[in-house]
Amino acid sequence: MNTLIIYSSRHHKNTEKIARTMASALNAQLVNLNEADTPALADYDLIGLGSGIYWGKHDRRILNLVDNLPLQNNKKAIVFSTSGLNEGRVLNNFNKRLKRKLREKGFTIIGEFSCRGFDTVGPLKLIGGLNKGRPDENDLEAAAHFTKGLWDEC
Ligand SMILES: Cc1cc2nc3c(=O)[nH]c(=O)nc-3n(C[C@H](O)[C@H](O)[C@H](O)COP(=O)(O)O)c2cc1C
Repeated sequence: MNTLIIYSSRHHKNTEKIARTMASALNAQLVNLNEADTPALADYDLIGLGSGIYWGKHDRRILNLVDNLPLQNNKKAIVFSTSGLNEGRVLNNFNKRLKRKLREKGFTIIGEFSCRGFDTVGPLKLIGGLNKGRPDENDLEAAAHFTKGLWDEC
């Protein structure tokens, strides 16, 4: 399975740890959206997209990337994020917007992964931040487990 993982990780490189773990589990090509251009998606069977959550959503650059893609024919995708608060199904459903955009572009979402990440935004800095040390070993193990499970979906 030829996989491309694209990420943005601007706050503490929390999401980068998850992206690296996923890329290594899938032997995927890894692209930091802030450092490199996006390769042609046509060359890949599965696309992973993720970032930290900034004011309730993925990095604008990730969302813009999807907005600017041509329509796909059921190309498989996964989404991932790290956030200060837990991702929820109703409240804090941080992955929702990115998933909707991907579906509108003709992608099939075959999985999503979220975990908490060290957060020192605003006043949190004054108290030493939230989720110090996250993502931790358990989070990375969960990310690797999630990613390996994708082999069954593809
Ligand atoms: C500008 C900014 C806004 C943020 N907004 C949210 C938010 O709305 N909800 C949340 O749970 N975490 C929020 N966070 C915390 C980040 O989602 C969290 O620290 C994440 O792990 C950062 O990932 P990164 O290190 O890969 O950038 C915010 C952080 C920053 C810097």
